Amino acid sequence: MQSFEYHCPTEIIFGKGAELKAADKIKKYGGTKVLVVYGGGSVVRSGLLQKITDLLQTAKLPYETLGGVQPNPRLELARTGVQQANKFKADFILAVGGGSVIDTSKAIAHGRANPDTDIWDFWSGKAELTKSLPVGVVLTISAAGSETSNSAVLTNEETGKKAGINTDFNRPCFAVMNPELTYTLPERQIACGVTDIMMHTLDRYFTHTKGNEMTDAIAEALLKNVAKNGRIALAKHDDYEAMSEIMWCGSLSHNGLTGLGAEIDFATHKLGHELSGKFDVPHGASLSALWASWARYVYKEEPQRFAIFAERVWGIHHEDLNETALAGIAATEAYFASIHMPTNFSELGIGKQDEKSLQYLADRCSDYGKKTVANFKKLTREDMYNIYKMANK
Ligand code: NZQ
Ligand code: ZN
Repeated sequence: MQSFEYHCPTEIIFGKGAELKAADKIKKYGGTKVLVVYGGGSVVRSGLLQKITDLLQTAKLPYETLGGVQPNPRLELARTGVQQANKFKADFILAVGGGSVIDTSKAIAHGRANPDTDIWDFWSGKAELTKSLPVGVVLTISAAGSETSNSAVLTNEETGKKAGINTDFNRPCFAVMNPELTYTLPERQIACGVTDIMMHTLDRYFTHTKGNEMTDAIAEALLKNVAKNGRIALAKHDDYEAMSEIMWCGSLSHNGLTGLGAEIDFATHKLGHELSGKFDVPHGASLSALWASWARYVYKEEPQRFAIFAERVWGIHHEDLNETALAGIAATEAYFASIHMPTNFSELGIGKQDEKSLQYLADRCSDYGKKTVANFKKLTREDMYNIYKMANK
């Protein structure tokens, strides 16, 4: 096990009616003027936004609202949010929604705390983030894990670049998690969420670091659990136990625990962000469309690791190591297909790409050949091109 520092301070309030505690928690973390951020309208239609603003009113917490966050959240709306937060003198940002709303809220918090810096400077690495505002979360979709993660992902719509930053300033101070709030999710979003949760775990699991028994066991249990409950939830959207398991897996998958003490990879996330940046495809779908291609391309780096995965997660064993490794990859791909997630570009809905487009994706992901990404196999620009090509069916 490698040395690590781990700090995951987010207070979790989990279960039925958890959202009723939102105002108390805002006060607990020092909020006195709240900017409430939400998405394209699901929380208006469900009545959740009204419920939350009523709570703020009763608690005598002044607030303003900012809606309209889109999936693959855009930089420009976050900039608008910073302006609004500055004008209103907000000292707390409350996200009511999923990863896109939470990441926008994190960006607004950073911008509000650093009014002289354009927020994209933090994402492009031009400026270092040294302070932010507290962010609280009322979670409505189990997927990105942003409610406890140290990450925030934005798309710069001018350049088509989708990028994340990792910093402990991205950890929300609290997350309200009521699985009932996810009952209204469309099937596609449940499946995208399950995929993303699996991928946060898989993108950490494939590592050359040895002897990480506890971390591996958490990751394997999480993968089996989310795959099983994903099937149940897709058949019955209001299954409280299944939605609870998926919701908790979502947070655990991306709070750092499933990769603690190991060198992590995140190749598929990096490759997938280029697809979302160019084609605006849902995050989870970008990942399932690429994972098996990545896995078949890199498994020879350490077939043993893929064989262990096949055995422990899917219960597959063949005498031949490579056969077991490949069967584990096929089983994962078959699982994605069984929950109607795409496993190649055509199924993703972007169609078969021409040569120029594949070159563009590899250029963008490698910063025009200037950098490699990931660790299980450090991917060069050529590797990226080859993986995109394998998924280009
Ligand atoms: O916008 P509304 O109308 O609310 O609808 C949303 C949206 O269309 C809908 N939805 C959410 N809760 C719902 C609901 N519909 C009905 N009932 C509900 N209860 O679901 C759609 C997707 O929402 P979004 O927030 O985009 O989903 P998700 O949580 O998957 O977030 C995806 C974003 O997070 C980033 C992704 O790249 C993507 O931009 N990620 C963030 C991470 C992080 N900060 O740690 C890590 C991830 O790897 C990921 O990159
Ligand atoms: Zn993800």
